[in-house]
Amino acid sequence: MKSFLASAVLCWALLAGLLSAPSAASPQESAGKSAQLDFQFFKTKVQPIFLAKRSGHARCVACHGSPTAPEVFRLQPLSPGNSTWNDEDSRKNFAATSKLVIPGDVKSPLLVHPLAEGAGGDFFHNGGKHFNSQKDTEWQVLKDWVLGQKGS
Ligand code: HEC
Repeated sequence: MKSFLASAVLCWALLAGLLSAPSAASPQESAGKSAQLDFQFFKTKVQPIFLAKRSGHARCVACHGSPTAPEVFRLQPLSPGNSTWNDEDSRKNFAATSKLVIPGDVKSPLLVHPLAEGAGGDFFHNGGKHFNSQKDTEWQVLKDWVLGQKGS
């Protein structure tokens, strides 16, 4: 009887293990709740967007990388003479930006705040609506990051 019980338990454990084993998901399916924010993609693809100049707008870093940046989104200031961030500062930026992201969720503040209301954004961003459409290539890079795309 004891050994029957033991093997029943073992059987159950094996079965449970099988059922909970991760199944191969397509990239589309693996977005959503399981999305994970990737540092490399952030560093090489997302940060350049914070640095880029868009006509009619100040650069994201001009406001969010200044010492008086709003508490809610504070990037590291660029060191004088540098046009981008070093690895250590990129890590800090990654942490600060991640706070404005719900991985896998296109309603993340990082996505809706700088996006025009008519394109699905929220109604006001003190820093302006930098992206007029969800087809905007820079906005799509932000979205890819939120959905868990990995960089190389
Ligand atoms: C002219 C200054 C300025 C610029 C340029 C600017 N912002 Fe902002 N941003 C602000 C201020 C001020 C706030 C806080 C008030 C508000 O939410 O509007 C803010 C808030 C935010 C927030 C926080 C949203 C929340 O949930 O509270 C995000 C995300 C954001 N900005 C992203 C960006 C991105 C991305 C860019 C560049 C594409 C950018 N901002 C450019 C001034 C700026």
